[in-house]
Amino acid sequence: MNNRFKHFLNLDEISKNDINLILSESHKIKKKSSDHTFKKKKILAMIFEKPSTRTRVSFEVGMKQLNGDVVILDHADSQLGRGESLEDTIKVLSKYVDIILYRGSCEEKMYDLKNFSTVPIINGLTDQSHPCQIIADILTLQENFPTLDNLNISWVGDGNNVCNSWIHSCKHFNFNLNIACPENSFPDQKILKKYKSSKINIFKDPYEAVKGADVIVTDTWVSMGMKDDPDRIKKFKKFQVNKKLLEKTSKETFFLHCLPAHRGFEVTNEIIDGKNSLVWSEAENRLYAHQAILLWCLNKI
Ligand code: CP
Ligand code: NVA
Repeated sequence: MNNRFKHFLNLDEISKNDINLILSESHKIKKKSSDHTFKKKKILAMIFEKPSTRTRVSFEVGMKQLNGDVVILDHADSQLGRGESLEDTIKVLSKYVDIILYRGSCEEKMYDLKNFSTVPIINGLTDQSHPCQIIADILTLQENFPTLDNLNISWVGDGNNVCNSWIHSCKHFNFNLNIACPENSFPDQKILKKYKSSKINIFKDPYEAVKGADVIVTDTWVSMGMKDDPDRIKKFKKFQVNKKLLEKTSKETFFLHCLPAHRGFEVTNEIIDGKNSLVWSEAENRLYAHQAILLWCLNKI
C-alpha cells in the first residue's frame, strides 16, 4: 500500500485504531469541534455503476464542506457506458483527482482498481460489501448506547452486502451479532467462515434471533442488480421487521436500516416511523462518517 494515502475498501483490513480514529473524527465533525479541512482544494471523483442518493449526496456535500469538490461519472453518460474499461478510466482519473469512490457490482473489480490508481479508492458499495454504511451505523449506535460491548445486534433479512460489512466489523467490536435469513440467503460463506466466532450466530428463525436484541437491523430483500422475483418475496415474508417481531425482544429495541426502505416489505411503517427508529440519524451520520473517511484516506487525521 502506498503510504502517502490509504484505500478504504473493507472494514476487516483496516486496523481497529484507524476505525476508532475515523469514528472519533466523525463525532467531532458532527459536534463541529473538528478543525480539519483541506488547505489546498481536493477533488473526489465518484463512479456510479449503480444508483445512489445518500452516498452520492453525502460525499458531495461532505467534500464541499471540507474545501473540496467532486466530479461524478455515471456509467451511462461517460465513456464507461460505451465500453471503455474501468482500468483505463481509473488511470486517467488518477491524473486529475485526489481520491476516487467506486460503486459497482463486482468486489474483485473494485480491488483491481488499486493496481491502476495512484490515488486512494473508497468502496462506495459492491454486491459483497458496504463499509461506509457500517461506519455511520456504528456512529449512530455509539450515540445511543454507552458502550457497544456485549450489545445484542440482530440482523434480520437478506444476508447481503450490508450484512457482510457488519460481519467484517465484528473484528473490531465486542458486540453479539445474531443473523437470521431465509434458506439460501445467508451471508457469504467465505466471510462467515473467516469471522465465525461465538459473537456471530446464524439463525433460520427470526423470532429466535431477536430474543434480547438491543438493535434490529434490516435492509431490502431485493438489492440493486437482483431480479424482482415474487417467489423470493414469499420466502422473506416471515423476516419482516414489524410489531410482532419487536415484541419478541422483551426489551426496548432500536431499529436501523441503511435505506432506501421498501415499506410494507422488509419493515412496516410503524417501526420505521416509530420512536425507536434511528434511521434518520443513521442517514444523517453518513455525512460525518464520509468526511472522516475522506480525511483518513488523505492522511489528514
Ligand atoms: N444506504 C445507501 O448507501 O444509500 P444510497 O444507495 O442512496 O447511496
Ligand atoms: N443491499 C442494498 C443496499 C443499498 C444501499 C443494495 O445493494 O441494493
